[in-house]
Amino acid sequence: MQPILAPSLLAADFSNFQQALNRIHHYQAPWIHFDVMDGSFVPAITFGAQVVAHLRPHSKTFFDVHLMVENPERHIESFAQAGANSITFHIEATHHAHAIVQQIHKIGCKAGIAINPGTSLHHLEALLPFVDLVLVMSVNPGAGGQSFITETLIKTRTLQALRNQQNLHYHIQMDGGINAETLPSVVEAGTDILVAGSAFFSDSHVNALLHSLQG
Ligand code: DX5
Ligand code: ZN
Repeated sequence: MQPILAPSLLAADFSNFQQALNRIHHYQAPWIHFDVMDGSFVPAITFGAQVVAHLRPHSKTFFDVHLMVENPERHIESFAQAGANSITFHIEATHHAHAIVQQIHKIGCKAGIAINPGTSLHHLEALLPFVDLVLVMSVNPGAGGQSFITETLIKTRTLQALRNQQNLHYHIQMDGGINAETLPSVVEAGTDILVAGSAFFSDSHVNALLHSLQG
């Protein structure tokens, strides 16, 4: 499939989310990526479900929520009610990942599992038959504008091979440091959904990013 662009609101002007939505609609990005940080799983705090709920009436775009939070099970219901289409949580944030995937599905959302650069893929192999999306972090979570960690591409390649071998159906997403220069290697490795924050919201970088996406 043609890779999907998921602009991250993390790089938007937080005083004007409507303008950010307008930009996403203008470039016809199919997904919007919401980076939720709790000040505990990662040091920064961004926003919660209320922001998602307030933006929902203003967009028909697929809402992709990336929870960088401890105790993700406490937040599934509020983000689902706010209008999330997909909810992704971190394998590092819980001992009960399978139960949380079930919780997300039960409430009617797609379920994703995210993995940090320093965590081995072995920790989530058992989950692969149950998830709709695997988010391979290509930077350490917590901030936008970091450099792409090239070594994470091996996880994407492995996930693509496992999907073929086991006839599974999850999407593979990469998040962090994706720009016009790094994008070709990300696509080549088998990524289906590309998150881009700073490159998408920068007027001087967005055209090169989209050009690179079109191959
Ligand atoms: C990192 C976030 C990302 C990231 C994307 O914690 O999950 O979504 O900030 O931003 P850029 O594209 O600026 O790396
Ligand atoms: Zn993210």
